[in-house]
Amino acid sequence: MFPTTLLTTLLLAFSVAANPVLVDRSTVTLPLSRRLNLTSIHNLVLHDQARAKNLKLGGSGKSANRRAVISEPVQNQAVTYVASIGVGSPATTYSLLIDTGSSNTWVGADKAYVKTSTSTQTTNKVAVTYGSGSFSGTEFTDQVTIATGLVIPKQSIGVATKSTGFDGVDGILGIGPVDLTLDTLSPATSSSIPTVTDNLFANGVISAHSIGISFEPSITGTDNNGEITWGGTDSSKFTGTIGFSSLTTTSPANEFWGINQSIRYGTSTTILATTAGIVDTGTTLVLIATNAFTKYKTATGGVLDSTTGLLRITAAQLTSLQSLFFVTPGGTFELTANGQLWPRALNTDIGGVAGRIYLIVNDLGSNSGEGLDFINGFGFLERFYSVFDTANNRVGFATTPFTTATTN
Ligand SMILES: *[C@@H]1O[C@H](CO)[C@@H](O)[C@H](O)[C@H]1NC(C)=O
Ligand SMILES: *[C@@H]1O[C@H](CO)[C@@H](O)[C@H](O)[C@H]1NC(C)=O
Repeated sequence: MFPTTLLTTLLLAFSVAANPVLVDRSTVTLPLSRRLNLTSIHNLVLHDQARAKNLKLGGSGKSANRRAVISEPVQNQAVTYVASIGVGSPATTYSLLIDTGSSNTWVGADKAYVKTSTSTQTTNKVAVTYGSGSFSGTEFTDQVTIATGLVIPKQSIGVATKSTGFDGVDGILGIGPVDLTLDTLSPATSSSIPTVTDNLFANGVISAHSIGISFEPSITGTDNNGEITWGGTDSSKFTGTIGFSSLTTTSPANEFWGINQSIRYGTSTTILATTAGIVDTGTTLVLIATNAFTKYKTATGGVLDSTTGLLRITAAQLTSLQSLFFVTPGGTFELTANGQLWPRALNTDIGGVAGRIYLIVNDLGSNSGEGLDFINGFGFLERFYSVFDTANNRVGFATTPFTTATTN
């Protein structure tokens, strides 16, 4: 698979050589597989809301505070994109969640860590609390192999001795901003822990400090339809140009991949006035502040379905469902009516009724004005290519061949 991808990238690079953003001979792509694992009713919405609440409490710099405040029962990840990552030499392969909302990389939740000659234990303990679980363990440095040609000789990794909320995966590949690693080590240090992306860039393995992510809509529980590109973008995965937005200065969204954005329903109904929020691969739905969700509910005519926790509309209401426009400094991105639906083929997987129409836009759990008023999760990212550009402090979106697809 890899040589074909590289060749394709090179060919595309030549054909679009006029656009410097797209040309990067050192990019390497990694396939991501999508998994659906819903073990209890309401899991989907509760998981996302618990995560949102945790993210709003701020980054890891406030982790002690977060531990005290979050008391919801742990909700396992419902929909995840995982990558196969090698650790050690010879490498053991782990299935890791790809998370833009956290920045520590760790293993050992499911498959045990296997020490090899490249494994070095440090004197530190490491712990991170997520809204949807937690892990604690010891810090090692080890060789991490993301893909052929993407190898980090000495990556700090956490090796879990205890973890909750991560059944079915081995840990996390954290690709959020590096400051989210602050205060995750004990004894406390004042420095952050370079992420895999930071190290690839520092070691000269990638020549741009940036990541491109492609997710695609799926109507099956498991699908190999995602891709992450380090050091550039994969122009075969998007159409047109990438519209970039500077990272927001508003706290706490500014601790994550946060941007300013407003949301409009149809031609003129404002759902959410311009405010700060985040882009997050660890959230399944599109979450908007409660006051905005109330407006969306009125605009769509949806009713809250008590079994799934999602809004439900009738077939008649679907025919008049309008697009939702995400207005960012980098451009306006239109989430079509079909893009707002939970895939009907997967209704029964979330405790829903076959044939019914459920919406993926849901309630963040608090009103706007708190500095993190929306989360553009998978529901959005499966329709738009996303670029997380550390070098230029910005996030970009572009349309894809699936933006207007009728898959749901
Ligand atoms: C699904 O979740 C359950 C419980 O949360 C876990 O035991 C199981 O291993 C998971 N399955 C997969 C395939 O991830
Ligand atoms: C985002 O919105 C905040 C609050 O209105 C504003 O101060 C800031 O300049 C905006 N832009 C960025 C890039 O943060």
